[in-house]
Amino acid sequence: MQEEVKKLRDLINYHNNRYYNLDSPEISDAEYDKLLRELILLEEKYPELKDENSPTQKVGGNVYEKFETYRHSLPMLSVDNVFNESELFEFDIRLRKNLKKEDEILYTVEPKMDGVAVEVIYERGNLVRALTRGDGTIGEVVTENIKTIPSIPLTLLKNSKYNIPELLEVRGEVFISHKNFEKLNSERKAEGSAIFANPRNAAAGSLRQLNSSITKKRNLEVFMYGAGLIEGIEINTQKELFTALKSFGFKINPLNRFQVSIKEVISFYEKLEAERKNLPYDIDGIVIKVDDINLQKNLGVKTKSYRWAFAYKFESIEETASLIDIKVQVGRTGVLTPVAILEPVSVGGVMVERATLHNFDEIKRLDIKIGDKVFIKRAGDVIPKIVKPIKHLRTGKEIDFKVPDHCPSCKVNLEKGKDTLLRCKNKECMAQIVERIKHFVSKQAFNIEGFGSKLVEQFVKNKLIFSYSDIFKITKEDIINFKNMGEKKADNLISSIENSKEITFSKFIYALGLNHFGEYLSNLVAEKFENFETLKNTTREDFEAVYGIGTIAADSITSFFKDEENLKEIDKLFERGVKLVYKKQENSNLLSGKSFCITGTLSFITRSKAEDKIVELGGTIKKSVSKNLSFLIAGDSPGSKLDKAKNLNVPILSEQEFKQLILF
Ligand code: IVH
Repeated sequence: MQEEVKKLRDLINYHNNRYYNLDSPEISDAEYDKLLRELILLEEKYPELKDENSPTQKVGGNVYEKFETYRHSLPMLSVDNVFNESELFEFDIRLRKNLKKEDEILYTVEPKMDGVAVEVIYERGNLVRALTRGDGTIGEVVTENIKTIPSIPLTLLKNSKYNIPELLEVRGEVFISHKNFEKLNSERKAEGSAIFANPRNAAAGSLRQLNSSITKKRNLEVFMYGAGLIEGIEINTQKELFTALKSFGFKINPLNRFQVSIKEVISFYEKLEAERKNLPYDIDGIVIKVDDINLQKNLGVKTKSYRWAFAYKFESIEETASLIDIKVQVGRTGVLTPVAILEPVSVGGVMVERATLHNFDEIKRLDIKIGDKVFIKRAGDVIPKIVKPIKHLRTGKEIDFKVPDHCPSCKVNLEKGKDTLLRCKNKECMAQIVERIKHFVSKQAFNIEGFGSKLVEQFVKNKLIFSYSDIFKITKEDIINFKNMGEKKADNLISSIENSKEITFSKFIYALGLNHFGEYLSNLVAEKFENFETLKNTTREDFEAVYGIGTIAADSITSFFKDEENLKEIDKLFERGVKLVYKKQENSNLLSGKSFCITGTLSFITRSKAEDKIVELGGTIKKSVSKNLSFLIAGDSPGSKLDKAKNLNVPILSEQEFKQLILF
């Protein structure tokens, strides 16, 4: 069953990505809803398979994060894996058979970088476009962001070995070093943003920023490892390709080895596996490629992968650590979860000090005690996990973890629900209030800029905020004496709060923090039900009739709206100026078909809010000026984009004109 659920999740995630990120769905909404409903039913039936990252909880891809998409001239396929030495030899034998080759095949071997694949395209030596891998066929245009990576040449270097080709599509892996990953996460922690689970997610997130100045600050790096189409120069081997790429000014991993035998591939693997811990970036194996490009062509491709390249992955890195404590966290809905607190240890170069334990049964299953030495693992894309305790190292001083019978924050007695989760039912529990408010102000909800976790904690501790609506009566006087506050920050926070009041229906529903309502369900409900009045009067049966809403979610939303307290609280939000924006309003198509690019600083709205607004009204955002652009919005001290727009006769809107346009 686990396999089935996983497959279904993968499939839904795939279609989500097609829909939200690539703008090219392959199935109808109804077919999609059917898949989702199937998953919801399975998760209800087998609660032990629930996962906070399941698409029923949350859907990848922010609707507003629009990137243009573009087709790769040659698809970016993936590589198949071999899992052990003998499979590697078999691979070599198979290729020789296919090629009817008596003598040895020579290979290129490279570390398999654990980052994000990109393709950067140069026409007559000039960088014209950069794409993510996307689904392999169509990628997202991330040109501006790629240009922020220092090692990417904007024009190819002239050199004595190779002429500048007519067309060069270079492929490589964008990554973030351990050092920069740690730095980024500690900054995010300080400002109360969610931290990245691992360097790969950080690299992917940084590459998909709408604002390239943020990408720039992330210090991304790249190693180039291949090519798409090449026109105008002749390349015969993988080795030659690397020489050419190097001479044009690209960064190549110095660990690569060229034209080696299959035996040498194995010793490369072993050496690299031993070195892996000391590398300043994540790798997850090696990639082995046939060196001779003619042979590559003879071997050809399968549907999804190349016949001439293989990956040989490493085992996931395990380390030992001391389990100092098991803390109990109270979530926004009152559910208690245990978290392992570890003595900080570096796992494959990344410092780890916490590990997930999922639920209390996991502690029993693993049979761990506080004070144990444990094996931990940071495998692929998951947050560190405890593998098992090292029992023979026990001294007798280890302590059994006691499942709490009262809430660690407010001390009330706990209740165990049908779903076997432990809950604190006290709505006034401080820890719950903090988590609820954090959720309410988060990016996916009211998006109140500058309202980080630390600040939320201060408000709640100082008894200035008990419920959502309290946020909208905060005054400057309330906060001016807070730690690390000051005049300017206080003013900014007050104006961020003011600016957040106009909110889309779906973000509003999400902000309310109903049990089981992540971004996906909130979106769904906002689309299916006309407005808030209708929503709050909908019956359980009508909710259940919607594909995608299961009994659990239907129960959750009906009981939420039955609760007088909740309704009173929502009324207060409206009284204090919260205004819902409905997508289906007439103006939602006001800007449809029009593209906008912003340059310079806007004074009445932040850039990201302005972009949100444009997308909300049906327009699209462009990061650069081209002759097809509908409007350039020029704020204060505009850059070279203004000149370019003037040259290309692109209409220019002043800040004032733009303001009138969106506020009509
Ligand atoms: S070559 C054969 N070389 O691993 C051409 N890929 O499925 C295919 N990767 O997501 C890619 N380091 O982004 C190649 N040195 C390397 C690589 C590498 C990492 C990634 C690549 C892709 C996956 C292969």
